[in-house]
Amino acid sequence: MTLVVGQTKVAGVKIIRHIAEMQATATALKRAGRRLALVPTMGALHAGHATLIRRARACDAATVVSIYVNPTQFGPQEDFNRYPRDIEADAALCAGESVDIIFAPLDAEMYAGNAASTWVEETALAKRLEGERRPGHFRGVCTVVAKLFNIVQPDIAAFGQKDFQQLAVITRMVRDLGYPIEILPVPIVREADDLALSSRNRYLNPTERAQATILWQALSAAQKLFATGEHRAAPLQASLLRTLQLVPAIRLDYAEIVSAATLEPVTDVQTGAVALLAVYLGQTRLIDNAIF
Ligand code: PAJ
Repeated sequence: MTLVVGQTKVAGVKIIRHIAEMQATATALKRAGRRLALVPTMGALHAGHATLIRRARACDAATVVSIYVNPTQFGPQEDFNRYPRDIEADAALCAGESVDIIFAPLDAEMYAGNAASTWVEETALAKRLEGERRPGHFRGVCTVVAKLFNIVQPDIAAFGQKDFQQLAVITRMVRDLGYPIEILPVPIVREADDLALSSRNRYLNPTERAQATILWQALSAAQKLFATGEHRAAPLQASLLRTLQLVPAIRLDYAEIVSAATLEPVTDVQTGAVALLAVYLGQTRLIDNAIF
């Protein structure tokens, strides 16, 4: 079903399409003494998003889920056009999680002509890894999240550790720009076979879906090696690569062990450092990570 502009409820959840209405609603809720929690998403909601929503709801705040496939964070060769969009299914999941409001803004209001002339850019943590492979990605993410923060005016915003670098970049943006918002980090939610849930998993064919479990196998093998006392990054990284090579169809983008604070590579791995993976399986790019 196509969402009709002006429709106010889908699957029983209040849906707001206009920035001015969202701002007025947020202001009214705050005047009434409510706290607001925001869960920013691009839709195609799954159990990972549901966990973010539950964490936000546990804060005793009115919960707003934003659903917006943000064009400015996709590169020209990326999957913006085929990114899954299903507002009915998303609204049904939100209804099941007792979400108060879905904010699904219109492109025409978020960006005039898919462009922006004012950008928000983090320049330290966003440089490497995803930022290096996806030029402009974090500028798009920071800009849209700043817009969402200004529109929804949340007291709390939940972000998943699945996108570890994104969480770090947003936490830094909040600190640097003085947003009065508490960032709630939420651990990765996985399938029964430990594949991290992702809206992009639905691109995988059955063979690729089975092969994708190698990401977690690589991360958990490195973690086991760490637990046996191996704290040098080189052998831990070699272990990551060795496991990934067990699936020849995997094309490696990166496998790095970095400091969680700086996202720079480390040579001695301390507890709290993080292993980050990005691979291609067919046309699909998958990321995963694990904290030592
Ligand atoms: P999206 O990919 O829809 O993810 C929305 C949020 O859900 C992010 O904070 C992401 O880290 C979290 N998430 C996704 N899969 C998860 C999993 N398996 N376990 C835990 N959390 C998970 O990330 C974005 O959208 C966009 O970049 C956005 C922040 C909305 C800006 O456009």
